[in-house]
Amino acid sequence: MADQDGTPDITPERIYLNRRNFLRTGLLAGTAATTALVYRSFRPGSVTAPASEPARILTDPATGDPATSFEEIANYNNFYEFSTNKTDVAAKAQALRTRPWAVEIGGMVAAPQTLTIEEILDWPQEERVYRFRCVEGWSMVIPWTGFQLSELLARVQPLEKARYVAFETAYDPATMQSELSAGIAFPYVEGLRLDEAMHPLTILATGLYGKPMPNQNGAPLRLVVPWKYGFKSIKSIVRIYLTDTEPPATWSITSPREYGFYSNVNPSVDHPRWSQKTERRIGEYRMRETLMFNGYGDEVASLYEGMDLTKFY
Ligand code: MTE
Repeated sequence: MADQDGTPDITPERIYLNRRNFLRTGLLAGTAATTALVYRSFRPGSVTAPASEPARILTDPATGDPATSFEEIANYNNFYEFSTNKTDVAAKAQALRTRPWAVEIGGMVAAPQTLTIEEILDWPQEERVYRFRCVEGWSMVIPWTGFQLSELLARVQPLEKARYVAFETAYDPATMQSELSAGIAFPYVEGLRLDEAMHPLTILATGLYGKPMPNQNGAPLRLVVPWKYGFKSIKSIVRIYLTDTEPPATWSITSPREYGFYSNVNPSVDHPRWSQKTERRIGEYRMRETLMFNGYGDEVASLYEGMDLTKFY
């Protein structure tokens, strides 16, 4: 199949060059031609990478599970602005206009800012291979590129009274479907408690597999919160604001009995219409056990001390 930029993909994306130097120089914002030069594909068993840049197999660092293929990550999507059919999203989201793009950051902050996507892509980006668990019961392992949300929040200087961070997706009726067709209100909105937003695992992602973010995955900038159900990871963000009250969240508004504001991955709290005990890793047949906080409990459980985790939040 072909990449977003039309470059043919000969081999699986999970084997590719170590791109640390590439990321440091901020070339994610580079041209398709540059990208094609740097991201050479290799046939398994015929790797010719120089010794200083060994080929590597991308895995989830905690479990050793292989990353889900680029093709699966980029062709099985939830992005209701374009389609409610996961396998249609990739084609329909090609209509998303990602340039010019700016993100407004304001609310209860001392230094509100509007940043262009070019400015954001110029910041150092790092790779994070995270497990991703959708509330519907499927999961993936995704190699994101991006940066910690805490870095962006530090720049705007949250005020003492700020308690939450709210996010908003672009809504463009010319390229996106109507609320009526989607069955949810637009713009898509989400929120985190400020301490969740500041947590080092919480990132704003600008790409995956070292490529610029595909439109269907939330180009040019999306949230990724790996211990929460996937719907918290809001796509194509244009506005971030800090507030002292719990902000609205699209799925909690749409169906409050089914989707809570916190929505931490929790196998002991069933969705009203299905169990959350197991999940299907895309690309596999057998079911896996779902882990509390999607397996990130050592890092994040302390955020929820005092909350009864057998309850729905
Ligand atoms: N963000 C917006 N703006 N619109 C959406 O429909 N879907 C959410 C989340 N972010 C959604 C969104 C849901 S339900 C999931 S599971 C993930 O995006 C899917 O991300 P992916 O398509 O990159 O796997």
